[in-house]
This record gives sequence, structure tokens and C-alpha cells, in this order.
Amino acid sequence: MFKDLIPFRRDRTRHPLFTAEDRENIMWFWNGYLKKRTIWLVAVLGLIFLQGIAYQQFLSLTEKGLRVIFDNGAVTDLIRVCAIVFGLFALRGTASYVVPRLSTWLASGAVMEMRRDMIDHLMTFDLAHFEMTPPGDYILKLVQQAQTLSQFVGQATISAVRDFFTVIIVSGYLIYKAPFLFFTALIVAPVILFVLQRTSNGIKEVQRKSESALGGYMNALEETLSGMRTVKISNQERFERERLTVSTEKIHDLQIRLQAAQAIVLPAIDLASAFAYSLVIGVGGYMAIASEHRIDGATIITFLIGLVMVFDPLRNLARFFTTLQSRLVILRSVNRLLNIRPTITDAPGAVAEFDTKGDIRFEDVTFSYAADTELFQNLSMHFTGGHRTAIVGATGSGKTTVLSLLGRLYEVEAGQITIGGTNIRDIQVNALRQSFSVVAQDIVIFNASIFENIRYVRPDATDAEIWEAAENAEIADLMRARGEAKVGPKGAQLSGGQKQRIAIARAFLRSAPILLLDEATSALDQRTEEKVKRALKRLSEGKTTLIVAHRLSAIVDVDRIYVLDAGRVVETGSHDELLQQQGLYAGMYTTQKSEYL
Ligand SMILES: Nc1ncnc2c1ncn2[C@@H]1O[C@H](COP(=O)(O)OP(=O)(O)O)[C@@H](O)[C@H]1O
Ligand SMILES: [Mg+2]
Repeated sequence: MFKDLIPFRRDRTRHPLFTAEDRENIMWFWNGYLKKRTIWLVAVLGLIFLQGIAYQQFLSLTEKGLRVIFDNGAVTDLIRVCAIVFGLFALRGTASYVVPRLSTWLASGAVMEMRRDMIDHLMTFDLAHFEMTPPGDYILKLVQQAQTLSQFVGQATISAVRDFFTVIIVSGYLIYKAPFLFFTALIVAPVILFVLQRTSNGIKEVQRKSESALGGYMNALEETLSGMRTVKISNQERFERERLTVSTEKIHDLQIRLQAAQAIVLPAIDLASAFAYSLVIGVGGYMAIASEHRIDGATIITFLIGLVMVFDPLRNLARFFTTLQSRLVILRSVNRLLNIRPTITDAPGAVAEFDTKGDIRFEDVTFSYAADTELFQNLSMHFTGGHRTAIVGATGSGKTTVLSLLGRLYEVEAGQITIGGTNIRDIQVNALRQSFSVVAQDIVIFNASIFENIRYVRPDATDAEIWEAAENAEIADLMRARGEAKVGPKGAQLSGGQKQRIAIARAFLRSAPILLLDEATSALDQRTEEKVKRALKRLSEGKTTLIVAHRLSAIVDVDRIYVLDAGRVVETGSHDELLQQQGLYAGMYTTQKSEYL
């Protein structure tokens, strides 16, 4: 624990204050989001500059005022000095109101654009990407990190610029007034630089760990919350509590370490400034006493006030620098998201029009999810246009994957998939997916009314069309009963069969030329299933339909059946042909038949 509080590791390598990547990221942010706001930024800078000038004027007026006092001058002069000093501070005060308002407006605008880009970009990622990355990672970037950057750009950076101007202007004045004293005070500068340089790397490292701890916490929270039913029924509240608490402890530790990494900076500056003050009083005092120099008491007092006015913003600048180091880590994290390139995109010259009613062919398709285990090797299948084909097989045999590949959710490694003779890779992704109505195995229901949930697949549908789809899917009664009521996150307030019927209603509403049904009626009771199946059969009239089912009674009347086993087609033919073959299918069918009787 205590070693965490020690900010410096014995690290002899020299780290630059800004790495090449840091500079690149800053340039990216500047070019993408700030450059177009240059005019406003210049306005803010102008105001900030005025603030600096006000400080310098204050200094010179103070000196004048002091002289009036020391030399027993006229009271009117004193009053004039007082009035101008007040006026200057009023000016500075006004700027202090306008500058943060302007800069927050600028920065939040820039970050809103960045968030929009992140959202746009997120939508292009391959499905496989989302299956590998926990959602907390995205939430961290889009919510937390974007917000942090906004605050940083809006407040910290602008204050830093103001402080920087103040330091430059006041220092300039001090050099002008008493160059020797100024350079005496400057002796401490290398110390400050050295400390900053030593801390920057530590800060970055702890910030990186902090971000990943925060991401871990968000992921754990998301997982626990969405799995609450399982957590409760299996009595795992304690385990979940532990897990979340451990995450929060980690964040706590890292926060302390982050502070520790920065902690040395301010004391170092304070010490350095104390040393500078002492030097100035000593050297300046000596020069005044020795009297061969042009320095009097008023100059020394003004100089000391000036030094205070320099060291205070300098302190802020140093703090800004340490914050900047940690924000660079965040900037990098955000930029990384934007640098991810999706692989499933429109090929050059991809077509929007293709024969959606044509035959679908898998030709020697090779595909694997993980690099070392092939799921499909030279898989060939043929789905006749306008007809119904079924795929059956044990769980894990690859049925769902066939449908996923057809929708180009994943890219085949070898071979090709064609629809009406066109390779799906040569079709625009949108156009391709527009041609499917899907009832997927994992149904996604949103926290909205049933009506809105059905409408989701075709926002332009009329109310009458939505009701008709709901009638067909046998969900209209429930939709009437629940009315506007939301169905809970992920449809938590609905039964499995109700969710499935919403998915089926979506397929009716969409009514695209190709119909993909993946265990579409598996969660329904027999009576409802019979009704829904009759409706689905009507829907599939004239459409190329792929039916994945394990209740074989559901598919006896399809035109062709494929039997998959561990990613290979082991049998194919009509129901009657397959029964005659006395193979896997015939076996499955007899078992199921005896179970249902
Ligand atoms: N998204 C995925 N990432 C990695 N492996 C997967 C993924 N989806 C399915 N698999 C694996 O691929 C195989 C086939 O799965 P799937 O097509 O869903 O089978 P089925 O629908 O016939 O039950 C299974 O072994 C499964 O574990
Ligand atoms: Mg499946």
C-alpha cells in the first residue's frame, strides 16, 4: 500500500514531455474540432490577453500609488490611481464572466461533434467487434471520457492560456523594470521543469490504469444489472456485491496513486517560489542599500507583488500540465475508437439492385469464428428462389451461422455466397440487409410499447399495417391490453413466447423478399404455434424462405431440407426422400414423433 504512495519509481529513462503520439492526437483534435472555431477562439484569447494587460497595468499603477504615498504627493493623484485600479479589476471581472461562458460553449460544441463522430463510427463496426468488446468500454469512451475532455478543453485549457499570458506579460514588465532581479529569480526555473518532466510519465501510467479500472467497473455493473434474474435465482448477490466492491476499491486506490503522482509538483513550486522571494528580498535589498543601483523600496515591493502574480498562475500552469498528461491518455483512448476500421463495408462499385427473388447459393464456403477451429469447410448449399428450404441439425451444428453469413454479419474466408447470381460482397450492405425479414434466435426487444417495438423494423408503416402484423403474429390481444405501457429493459416484463411473437410481427410488417426464420416458434405453446405457423406460411408465399427448426413437424412440407452436423451437410432432400434414406434425419424424426404422441 505505502509503496503506492511513493510517486517516483527508480526509472532512469528520460521521457519527453509529449510523445509523438500525443502530438498527433492533439493535432487530430485541433484539426477535427477546434480549427473551424478559430474566430471564436481568437476572441476568447483576445479577452484573456486583456485580462493579462489589466494585471500589468495594475502593477504599474500600484508602483505609482506607492510613490505618491512615499513621496507625500497629492491626494487627488492617489484617488485617480484608486479609481483606475478599480476600473481595471472591473474589466478583468467582466472578462472572467464572458471567457468561461464562451469557452464552455466552444468546448462542449467541439466535444458534441466528437461524440457524434464516435456514434457514427460505432455503427459501422463489425458485429464480431461487439462480440469481443464488453459494452462498458464503449460507455466509458462515449460518456465519461468525452465528458472529461469537454471539461478539460473548456475550462482547464482556457485558464491555462490566461495564466500563460499573465506570466508572460507580468514577467515582461518585471524584466523591463528590474532585469537583474528577474534573472536572479529565474534561477529556480530548471528545478520546476525537472519536477514536471519526472512526474509526467507516472501520471500517464496511473491514468491509463485508472481508465481501465473504470471500464472494468462499468462492465461489471452492466453485467450484474442485466443478469439480475439469474443473480437472484441462483442466490449470487454476495458474489456480485464482492465483485463490484473490488472494482470500486481498485478505482479508489488508483485515484490515490494518481494524486500521489502529481503531489510533488505544487510543493516543489512553492518551495522554489519561496527561494525566489528570499533571493529578491536579499539581492534587491542589498542593491537598494548599496544605492549605486537605480532601485528603490517601491521598485522592490512592486517587484515582489509582481512575483506573486507570476508564481500564482505558474502554479496553476504546473497543475494544468499534470492534468494535461492524464487527459492525453483519454484523448488517445477516444482516438483509438475512431481509428478502428470495420471490415464489412461496401466494396467499390457495390450494387444497390440485385435479384432478391433469385436463388441463394453457398459455394464452397469456408468460415470460422476463431482462428484455429474451422466451422464450415467447403460448405455448399442451394436455396431455390421463391421456395421454402429448411435447415435442421443439433445445436452448435452451424444453422444460425448460415443465416448470419447470408446477412454478411461475418465475412466468409473462402468460397462465396450469391443471391440471384450476385456475390453478396458486391451488394451494398444496406441493400443486402434490406432484403431480409428476420426472426432471429436471440430476440432484441427495446424498452418501449409493443406497438413501437413492432414498428421498429419499418418506421414508415401505418398503424393499420402494424395492427395487421400483430394479428398475424397472435400478439394483437396483448398489444391492446398493454396499450402504451413499456415492456421493460430488454422486454423484461414479457414472456419468451410473447417476445417471440413480437419478433414474428416484425417479420410480417417488414415483409421483405427473403424470409429467415431461426427457431422462430420454439417458445410458443402448440396451439399458438399452429396458428402462427399457418400465418407464417401465408407470409412465406412466393418468398425465398430459410427455416431453421428443431421441431421437425414444423418443416415436413418444405421443398428441401438440409441436415447439418458439425458444420457439414450430411443429408439433403425432401422430407419423404430423407425418410427413405434411413439416415440422421429419419432417426431424429422417429424419435421426435414418438415423443409427441
Ligand atoms: N459469435 C460467435 N463467436 C464465436 N463462436 C460462435 C459464435 N456463434 C456461434 N459460435 C460457435 O459456432 C458453432 C455454431 O453455432 P450456431 O451457428 O449458433 O449453431 P446452431 O444455430 O446450429 O445451434 C457453435 O460451436 C458455437 O459455439
Ligand atoms: Mg442457432
